[in-house]
Amino acid sequence: MALERTLSIIKPDAVAKNLIGAIYTRFESAGLRIVASKMMHLSKEQAEGFYAEHSERPFFGALVEFMTSGPIVVQVLEGEEAILKNREIMGATNPADALAGTLRADYAETIDENAVHGSDAPETAAREIAYFFSDEEICPRTR
Ligand code: TYD
Ligand code: MG
Repeated sequence: MALERTLSIIKPDAVAKNLIGAIYTRFESAGLRIVASKMMHLSKEQAEGFYAEHSERPFFGALVEFMTSGPIVVQVLEGEEAILKNREIMGATNPADALAGTLRADYAETIDENAVHGSDAPETAAREIAYFFSDEEICPRTR
């Protein structure tokens, strides 16, 4: 087992539906610790940079428009196998394919507005955490 950190985002649709607390409860109930957290309203440039790997995909413009449509909450989750564990809590990208009891099954209706983001691998987690947080903004538990 490996202690990992992963970057999580509560997307504008879930913030608008007043689901911040419900989603944080899912993370904490699964044993993930929130070690950094902030609310932001992304600029077009910030959203484009975050999703740069998808810049050639047909949905890129709509994705950037959605991610800038309202505030988001960004957090670093820490725990054993945190990257995979968060992806399991989230469910599949398309809510129609997401397992019952996952965030996307419970809180999202469509693939383009799917409630949450989570890093998918150690390399992307490192890049995505650094995209939003400085080292000083990450607060490991002391008790
Ligand atoms: P992706 O990294 O494939 O999914 P995930 O968020 O599960 O890691 O895609 C990033 C986001 O792009 C996805 O959460 C929603 C959006 N998207 C679409 O709008 N349409 C699509 O067909 C795909 C694949 C993604
Ligand atoms: Mg992804």
